[in-house]
Amino acid sequence: MYNFDIRRIGGRLGAEITGVDLSTELSDSVFCQIEEAFLAHKVLVFRDQQLSDAAQLAFAGRFGPLTQKHPMMRTADENPQVIPVDGEDQRADHWHTDISFSVTPSLGTSLRSIVLPPYGGDTLVANAAAGYQDLPRELREVADRLWAVHTNHAEQPRLGTERGEAVRRAFLAKRYETAHPVVRVHPESGEPVLFLGGFAQRLVGMTLRESRPILDVLQSYVRRPENQVRWSWRPGDVMIFDNRSTQHYAVNDYDSHKRVLHRVSITGDLPRSLDGRTSYPIENPQEDTP
Ligand SMILES: [Fe+2]
Repeated sequence: MYNFDIRRIGGRLGAEITGVDLSTELSDSVFCQIEEAFLAHKVLVFRDQQLSDAAQLAFAGRFGPLTQKHPMMRTADENPQVIPVDGEDQRADHWHTDISFSVTPSLGTSLRSIVLPPYGGDTLVANAAAGYQDLPRELREVADRLWAVHTNHAEQPRLGTERGEAVRRAFLAKRYETAHPVVRVHPESGEPVLFLGGFAQRLVGMTLRESRPILDVLQSYVRRPENQVRWSWRPGDVMIFDNRSTQHYAVNDYDSHKRVLHRVSITGDLPRSLDGRTSYPIENPQEDTP
């Protein structure tokens, strides 16, 4: 039993918690229940909160050490651990796992609404463990053996504006490449997860051309509508998702309106495959090949 109300918002993931004020210092027992709900539902949302950056940092920090500063994204002046997610900088309208091009992608990410467009700009989150469970056994056996190269140089959506191009150049300035198992064992729940998303560019041992259709078919199981939840932002909303077992997508349907969320990420661990091997950086990243 929880000390707060919790309501599922999707069949395969997601829950809304009410009756918790995140701006106050949560007791250990309430936080433990939130953490339990986070593992069970993978994405939690809290409405009608009134958080400062400091309070968002404090709440996210209960889950683990925070990511100090994103390697190449603009951060808030006073708090380098806070990243303004601004639709004028970029629009993440592709399914992805945050910073999966690094060796230790985030454990989770918290998002808080700052400026919302008059319509649109929802966030979709998909359950990548359900994606794995949905694979036919024959395909699962293939996925179990595969490794993928994740890079910040994988194809990304482009805004096409001057500001968007400047942000993109900064994002690409240093090239990251990491090999992760396509099937990752969640370090806390032990569930196998399809660990892919938009930064997964190719499969280890295959060319881009050979990899693409295989990555696409695996991804299609993660992003099935049944495995998604869609969140329509309101002022005061706070979301936190498990970046180890989900992917997300920022719906780009709000035209030229302003949309700003504040993002705070929690440091993750080294992903592990079903046979216990861990992710590794690729020392000599390849140039992009068509
Ligand atoms: Fe993201």
